[in-house]
Amino acid sequence: MQDQTPNALYDGPVPAFTAGAYRIKHATEAWERAGAAALRRQVFCAEQGLFDGDDRDAVDAHALTIVALSDLCGMPDAVVGTVRIHQPEPGLWIGSRLAVAPAHRRAGSLGASLIRMAVCTAAGRGCLRFHAHVQARNALLFRRLHWRTLEEVTLHGHPHHHMQADLAHYPPIHDGDRGFLALARRAA
Ligand SMILES: CC(C)(COP(=O)(O)OP(=O)(O)OC[C@H]1O[C@@H](n2cnc3c(N)ncnc32)[C@H](O)[C@@H]1OP(=O)(O)O)[C@@H](O)C(=O)NCCC(=O)NCCS
Repeated sequence: MQDQTPNALYDGPVPAFTAGAYRIKHATEAWERAGAAALRRQVFCAEQGLFDGDDRDAVDAHALTIVALSDLCGMPDAVVGTVRIHQPEPGLWIGSRLAVAPAHRRAGSLGASLIRMAVCTAAGRGCLRFHAHVQARNALLFRRLHWRTLEEVTLHGHPHHHMQADLAHYPPIHDGDRGFLALARRAA
């Protein structure tokens, strides 16, 4: 019979560390911006092969970077998600380069939370229309979050949906530097 005493030695496999919570915020620190850039390279260059070694472009010079930070004992630990937003013309905002680290996907609604922070931040800055070119495989995720497809297009050789957010579902956020918490899902 297995020893049930509290001090019994555990000799099974050590479970991988999983964050209990994530903070979704604007990237205000240099390490947060560097972590976001590294995660983008990992996802869009190494994993998806959309870009050759570097996915940065002219938009980065004036875009606002948003990050999801994993939490370790109440302290921000690592950048595990990111997205950027910019305003190419008054009232029109664009979101792009949404990425969540593979180990944290479907773990704490990070993708949905980053989209929320992106659109709500823009709503707080006078956004009238919020658009994104969404990879076709992710269009359902966006539709569930109150986006609609305007047009289907091919970008970087892959099918995309040009989509628009329904701003009625995205109230303005004015304190993005502090951000909000997203709790990790627990296994049942
Ligand atoms: C797309 C991506 C950002 C989603 O991030 P994520 O943190 O796994 O997403 P979430 O956990 O917030 O998902 C929210 C909900 O949508 C579902 N979902 C996630 N990805 C989905 C997809 N591609 N299609 C349909 N539903 C999806 C989740 O299961 C979850 O549903 P639930 O709440 O009922 O369980 C992530 O998979 C990723 O970084 N992929 C690689 C890069 C990429 O494709 N970027 C997007 C470019 S448009």
